[in-house]
Amino acid sequence: MNVRLSSYGRPLTKLRVSLLDACNFGCVYCMPATAAFCHKEDYLSSDEISEIVGNLVNYGVEEVRLTGGEPTLRHDLADVVEKLGKLSLKKISLTTNASRLLQFLPALADGPCRSMNISLDSLEPDNFKKITTHDGLGRVLDTIERARAMGFKIKINTVVMKGINHHEVKNFVRFAERENIEVRFLEVMNIGVVRPHFQEWHYSGHDILRDIESEFGLSPVQMPADSTAQVFTTAQGGRVGLIASESMPFCGGCSRLRLSSKGVLRACLMKEDGKNLRGVQPSEYAPLLQEIALMKPMTRIKEIPEPMYQIGG
Ligand code: 5AD
Ligand code: SF4
Repeated sequence: MNVRLSSYGRPLTKLRVSLLDACNFGCVYCMPATAAFCHKEDYLSSDEISEIVGNLVNYGVEEVRLTGGEPTLRHDLADVVEKLGKLSLKKISLTTNASRLLQFLPALADGPCRSMNISLDSLEPDNFKKITTHDGLGRVLDTIERARAMGFKIKINTVVMKGINHHEVKNFVRFAERENIEVRFLEVMNIGVVRPHFQEWHYSGHDILRDIESEFGLSPVQMPADSTAQVFTTAQGGRVGLIASESMPFCGGCSRLRLSSKGVLRACLMKEDGKNLRGVQPSEYAPLLQEIALMKPMTRIKEIPEPMYQIGG
């Protein structure tokens, strides 16, 4: 290990790696009506990813989360995971919409990626389709069940929007209790296509907690200092989380870096500045990483035009 990279006292130990910007869903809070994706040839190859991540491990990166776009659109997903598994990472995880995950489960089952966050914004088929433009609620639910049966650790991410799915929060809590699965409610973030709708859609974490508490009771669970989620158990023992990045930002404890599908490393979701690491020699990393660390803001930037599929969830 060289030095452990940090930014104003925050150790930068967690890395999100976007495998591609393309997605088969068109979530209302993410995908514009006409989205232009990168050329396939521009995406980092599995070798380039493992090389860059390997170099970052030398500067203190311990955990990698694979994201997109939709990472299961990469045919070499299992290959990427296998190569990352050879590095000394403490954890490899995946964020996916799960519509195409089923076919990857056997290849991933014996590998090092045992944790998955599955995006699921509605338990009502019509609303699921309205939000994602995809008809696949049944398939996603079946895939969750299958993945759990195979021993994967699954959490659900639910973006809550006023007037669209906030009426489903309690139903999701019942789902969490019944299925014994952690559901994490996300405030919709003021990025990309959300911006003109933000005031209309924003349903605050306080409101979400109030809705849940009134019917289910909530006790806080102790979480690590750099956790983005506040986690609670309901009186019935269900586990629910809240990621309130708008009303209760967590920048002061943020440990995250993000690598784009084209190789640009940045220090903050809300800040476009970064440095391209593609083809960069290991000896050139130290000054570049110092510059990146200094780009990480201490307080929440209000909004950013880039949508999540480009930044990498
Ligand atoms: N606000 C909050 N969450 C978002 N995601 C994508 N766009 C937004 C947004 N504007 C979520 C997805 C997925 C994760 C990668 O980020 O639903 O769960
Ligand atoms: Fe695709 Fe995720 Fe964006 Fe939905 S939020 S369109 S699943 S990248």
